[in-house]
Amino acid sequence: MTKRGFFVSFEGGDGCGKTTQMRLLLERLRSQGKDVLETAEPGGTPIGRQIRRILLDSANDALSPRAEMLLYFACRAQNVDEWIRPALAAGRIVVSDRFTDSTLAYQGEGRGLTAELVRELHAIACQEILPDLTIYLDIDYRTGLARARARNAEQDGPDESRMEAQAEEFHERVRRGYLALAAAEPERIRTIDARQSLEAVAAAIWAEVQPHV
Ligand SMILES: Nc1ncnc2c1ncn2[C@@H]1O[C@H](COP(=O)(O)OP(=O)(O)OP(=O)(O)O)[C@@H](O)[C@H]1O
Ligand SMILES: [Mg+2]
Repeated sequence: MTKRGFFVSFEGGDGCGKTTQMRLLLERLRSQGKDVLETAEPGGTPIGRQIRRILLDSANDALSPRAEMLLYFACRAQNVDEWIRPALAAGRIVVSDRFTDSTLAYQGEGRGLTAELVRELHAIACQEILPDLTIYLDIDYRTGLARARARNAEQDGPDESRMEAQAEEFHERVRRGYLALAAAEPERIRTIDARQSLEAVAAAIWAEVQPHV
């Protein structure tokens, strides 16, 4: 049997601290000499980054919910085939900023597409690939959005605010979706209170990851 690596994903609403905490975890793992593949959804691979541009551009407000979901999965299929599956087969640790739980929360709960549909597409796009451990950074959407907006105001990057610009009820449904997923799979999906300090959140994440790596 092929030796299989370990797959960790970061999940949570906009601005909860996924990217920040993932960088801290990567630094920690690499400082211990671990071989880690870092990826992100949407994005990750070069082809995925082109799809990401369509998904997050606030000019694309006409993007239909099903088209949106298929683009997320197109991106993920590329990521799985090009990067994630080979890395896991080589015994590496894979860390991804978002994965299919995001689609379940945002497109399933947020947009009202059924979880069955999302899971069917996951099976096509990702086949057997699912995170072994998911870090869910739980935060009320007001705090999360305030953090994301402050960050966007400071940064000079491309406009990626299409999801952040959704109505309040959308973000509330997304959070309820995440909490339901975490309640259904408490072993895989570990919930951490993201309102804590950076250091406290990082320590809680390390306590979850360390026994596995
Ligand atoms: N625990 C924290 N306390 C205070 N500020 C934080 C905390 N964690 C992250 N931040 C800040 O909040 C902002 C958003 O963090 P980050 O970009 O990591 O969130 P994200 O979950 O990746 O957002 P997105 O969903 O938009 O990708 C950043 O400016 C970051 O420095
Ligand atoms: Mg981020």
